[in-house]
Amino acid sequence: MEVAARTAIALLLALAVASGCLCGGAQGRHHRHTKHTRHNSAHAHAPSQAPGPSSSRRHAPPHARGASPPAPPPSSSSGAGGDYPTPGAAPEPAPEPAAGSAVAVYDVVKDFGAVGDGVADDTDAIKTAWDTACSEDGDGVVLAAAGYTFLVHTTVFTGPCQGSVTIQLDGTIVAPSDPDKWPANNKRNWLVFYNAHGTTLRGAGLIDGKGQKWWELPCKVHKGQGGSSGHGASCDSPVALRFFTSNNVTVQGLKVQNSPEFHFRFDSCRGVLVSGLSISSPQQSPNTDGIHIENTQDVLIANAAVSNGDDCVSIGAGTLNVHIENVTCGLGHGISIGSLGKQGTRACVANVTVRNAVIRHSDNGVRIKTWQGGSGSVSSVSFENVRMDAVRNPIIIDQYYCLSRSCENATTAVFVSGISYAGIRGTYDARSPPIHFGCSDAVPCTNITLADVELLPAASSGQSVDDPFCWNVYGNAATPTVPPVACLMDGVPGNYADNSSLKCY
Ligand SMILES: *[C@@H]1O[C@H](CO)[C@@H](O)[C@H](O)[C@H]1NC(C)=O
Ligand SMILES: *[C@@H]1O[C@H](CO)[C@@H](O)[C@H](O)[C@H]1NC(C)=O
Ligand SMILES: *[C@@H]1O[C@H](CO)[C@@H](O)[C@H](O)[C@H]1NC(C)=O
Ligand SMILES: *[C@@H]1O[C@H](CO)[C@@H](O)[C@H](O)[C@H]1NC(C)=O
Ligand SMILES: *[C@@H]1O[C@H](CO)[C@@H](O)[C@H](O)[C@H]1NC(C)=O
Ligand SMILES: *[C@@H]1O[C@H](CO)[C@@H](O)[C@H](O)[C@H]1NC(C)=O
Repeated sequence: MEVAARTAIALLLALAVASGCLCGGAQGRHHRHTKHTRHNSAHAHAPSQAPGPSSSRRHAPPHARGASPPAPPPSSSSGAGGDYPTPGAAPEPAPEPAAGSAVAVYDVVKDFGAVGDGVADDTDAIKTAWDTACSEDGDGVVLAAAGYTFLVHTTVFTGPCQGSVTIQLDGTIVAPSDPDKWPANNKRNWLVFYNAHGTTLRGAGLIDGKGQKWWELPCKVHKGQGGSSGHGASCDSPVALRFFTSNNVTVQGLKVQNSPEFHFRFDSCRGVLVSGLSISSPQQSPNTDGIHIENTQDVLIANAAVSNGDDCVSIGAGTLNVHIENVTCGLGHGISIGSLGKQGTRACVANVTVRNAVIRHSDNGVRIKTWQGGSGSVSSVSFENVRMDAVRNPIIIDQYYCLSRSCENATTAVFVSGISYAGIRGTYDARSPPIHFGCSDAVPCTNITLADVELLPAASSGQSVDDPFCWNVYGNAATPTVPPVACLMDGVPGNYADNSSLKCY
């Protein structure tokens, strides 16, 4: 898996570079073969500069040049259409050394009348810029420039587009701060990308969900107040950025803060690259997961910092091939697979790697949580080189996840198997045991392995420390651990010896 994982990362990185240079995905390239002149005539919302090489170079995002993949030699660079020569294609006339190539720029202020004062409603301007870029052949950049604050109401950016569209956000986008300003029947999403294949959202800008008034709604479960159901319909709150059925999407470099609910949600996507993000909301903000993924495959999350009130990254059912690297999580609930199997559902998660993470002052470190009564499996999960800093439950598998007091033990459960923890070091808040494997009575966890685990009570935590806890869990420690884990059972119970039938993938 090591080698395979590297291959996929390389692929995803290649995707990042490709979208970084605005030369887009397969679709965009296809258009280059067939169309060499770009729409350039009067249009209700024609870009303020003709999308020729000179204007686009001026507007090309800062990363564009450096990241140019097979940098076209100046002599063979593109003509007025601005298209990259495709390897093997006949060279085109070259009036311009096209370091950035030509990409049509749709400036939401200059071309679409956005005001950008944080007060006027710029929803239509931004939406129209997207629709225009999306409907034009070739790749386009929707530019929301630095120095402006755009007030944007709930919006769906719909694809598929003709080329790849990049939103270059160097300014700020804010949501309406008052929940009453949201349509009564649509309080679950703020900015949605739907069928938006090949989209890149990037820049040095800020996306602010203005969640404060949502968090204060009486229906929310607040930390320290115990909890019943905070999830009634009346409590719907918007996810800041939702990517739904969108393939090969990239999010890079932005700061996202104070979402009313999850900051990012990727649902039913294939090919997701998230890198260089900073996500923050207060520790007391409920349900503000940093990045949530479900029904999604082939995900790379790299170089991100998340500080929030719920999971840093949460991985839901139907997720396959996820690599998380260089992520720092603070204050919230750590990196979580789950919750899975609620209300008897079948849930499958496989091939998740978390490498080089730092988790600080969080309720959990790396967690797998499932409800009683579900089915499916979590398999091939590897947590490597994770530093814990005063984390309450650094290593935890909880198959008795439950939000109320009346959760019965059931005769089925999501099967958890093939989970490895290597190089997990640091300190824990000694109110809880540092290692907790609470597996189902009905279905054991199998092949749980530990190596180089060293967890010490944080200086500030209590006097007495609990031993690692295990219930119905099989596996081994390849090296001695601190504290020692004496409660793992050897081998595999007979009827699970070769029970790949329980696994989903
Ligand atoms: C696991 O996921 C990685 C991407 O993170 C991928 O490269 C690799 O091929 C996957 N492994 C399997 C066995 O599918
Ligand atoms: C993602 O992009 C790659 C390269 O452009 C392409 O081969 C692949 O088919 C795309 N994946 C999906 C799911 O669209
Ligand atoms: C993680 O960080 C290291 C050190 O900065 C860097 O070399 C590596 O490329 C990063 N990984 C990814 C996937 O960006
Ligand atoms: C469920 O099983 C666990 C492990 O046997 C036990 O600790 C717990 O009390 C049981 N809960 C109920 C509600 O029966
Ligand atoms: C145990 O899990 C690891 C992944 O953590 C996997 O590579 C290995 O094949 C599994 N072993 C068995 C016997 O299933
Ligand atoms: C394991 O698989 C065998 C045959 O595939 C099946 O008879 C057995 O019941 C399975 N065990 C469990 C615990 O599901």
